[in-house]
Amino acid sequence: MAKIFSIASGKGGVGKSTISCHLAKSMAGHGEKTIIIETDCGFRGLDIILNTDQIVYDIGDFVSGNCELVDAIQPVENFDHLHFLPASTNFEQTLNHKDLLKICESLKNIYDNIIFDLPSGYAMTAKTKNISDIFLIVVTPDPVCIRDASMFVDFLRNEKC
Ligand SMILES: Nc1ncnc2c1ncn2[C@@H]1O[C@H](COP(=O)(O)OP(=O)(O)OP(=O)(O)O)[C@@H](O)[C@H]1O
Ligand SMILES: [Mg+2]
Repeated sequence: MAKIFSIASGKGGVGKSTISCHLAKSMAGHGEKTIIIETDCGFRGLDIILNTDQIVYDIGDFVSGNCELVDAIQPVENFDHLHFLPASTNFEQTLNHKDLLKICESLKNIYDNIIFDLPSGYAMTAKTKNISDIFLIVVTPDPVCIRDASMFVDFLRNEKC
C-alpha cells in the first residue's frame, strides 16, 4: 500500500517541485516504486525538471476521459522505479478531490510512494488533505514565508477545513 506525500507551501517558488523530484529520486534509488503527481494545471514544470519532453497525455486528459490513467503516466530516464503524471497545460483544467482520490485508489497498490507536487496556497492542498499520509511544508528563511507556513500548519490541523 502506497504512502501518500503532499509537498505544499503557502508561498510560491520556494522549492516544492525541486524537493518533490529529489525526494522521489531518492526513494526510487532505494528501489521503492514511486510516482510524482503534478497538480499545478496550467504551469507544468516537472517535464523540464525530470528531462521528459515526449508528453502526449496528462492528468487533465485522464480526468476528462480522453485517455486511460496508464497512458498519462511517464517513465523517468535513468530511474527504473520512478514515474510521473504531468499536469495539464490548460489553465482552465480543474482537479477535484474526487479525481485525486480516484487516481490514488488506482495507484496505491502499484506504487510504494505517491508524491503530490502541489501548487502554492490552500486550494489544491485542501483537496489532498484527507488523502495524504504525510505533508511536507516547504519554507525559505523569509519571515513572510515562515509566517505563511505557520498559518498553513494551522490550516492542516483544523479538522473543519
Ligand atoms: N535549494 C535551492 N537553492 C537554490 N535554488 C533553488 C533551490 N530549490 C529550488 N531552487 C530554484 O528555485 C526555483 C523555484 O523552485 P521550484 O520550482 O522547485 O519551486 P516551487 O515551490 O515548486 O514553485 P511553484 O510554487 O511555482 O510551484 C527554481 O528555479 C529552482 O531551481
Ligand atoms: Mg512547483
